Amino acid sequence: ASTLGAAAAQSGRYFGTAIASGKLGDSAYTTIAGREFDMVTAENEMKIDATEPNRGQFTFTAGDRVYNWAVQNGKRVRGHTLAWHNQQPGWMQSLSGSSLRQAMINHINGVMGHYKGKIYAWDVVNEAYADGNSGGRRDSNLQRTGNDWIEVAFRTARAADPAAKLCYNDYNIDNWTWAKTQGVYNMVRDFRARGVPIDCVGLQSHFNANSPYNSNYRTTIQSFAALGVDVQITELDIQGGSATTYANVVRDCLAVPRCTGISVWGVRDSDSWLGAGATPLLFDGNGNKKAAYTAVLDVL
Ligand code: XIL
Repeated sequence: ASTLGAAAAQSGRYFGTAIASGKLGDSAYTTIAGREFDMVTAENEMKIDATEPNRGQFTFTAGDRVYNWAVQNGKRVRGHTLAWHNQQPGWMQSLSGSSLRQAMINHINGVMGHYKGKIYAWDVVNEAYADGNSGGRRDSNLQRTGNDWIEVAFRTARAADPAAKLCYNDYNIDNWTWAKTQGVYNMVRDFRARGVPIDCVGLQSHFNANSPYNSNYRTTIQSFAALGVDVQITELDIQGGSATTYANVVRDCLAVPRCTGISVWGVRDSDSWLGAGATPLLFDGNGNKKAAYTAVLDVL
């Protein structure tokens, strides 16, 4: 196959990217994105502040722009994200307790209701675990509503759109030896044991010098998959853009049947949230395929 999406499809997987609605008028951008990828994540447009800027008032203009571009170009869509401590609108940041809990539930229902039946997988909860060695939850206004907030979010999500896969998504849960990974693993195991609806774990996979790709990545993917959930690599970027590391990531996913797809977090280096200088993606700022692109295509 000659594109990332077609190559991934050979093994029943997808290859996606984050798309920014503000770039859909850039034909160099849409040409590459349209040709290479078969899964789309809205980089910001389906987040809480974008979809519910005022309490109870939902706006899907930008989210729909990304969604419609994807579907009109034959791609599926991952939903990102419904419950998160970041990119909350001001009104939500100032809520707490039962009113915040209810606002979270209303938000999940509002957004998933709008996209009902149209989303491959939702990142229901994003980044709920703490960095460092605790292996516990991150402190946040959502966490302070009670430790059960994550399972409430997943139960609400299942009822709102039974067709969508429901994922827990986080960074630094790719290194099997890290406490954060073990904390999330234990939560997923507990959810599966108690019948809390969860279908997938998203490994963001933002790799850099402090959080490098590690050779136990495949063990992490296998371990989550053994709990009976799919694993998706949801936001892959590698600072410096090592072709070898990109190839290793793809090989590790292909080695696990339940690793169902890979998405990179942007199209060209100049589109990266890390800045073009990080050179973390598969296309350079001029839209040329990098060595990492060829390495990925070769492995797929
Ligand atoms: C980033 C976007 O790429 C930026 O445009 C935005 O300013 C901040 O958020 N983890 C996530 C993504 O789950 O939503 C983040 O996206 C990157 C880290």
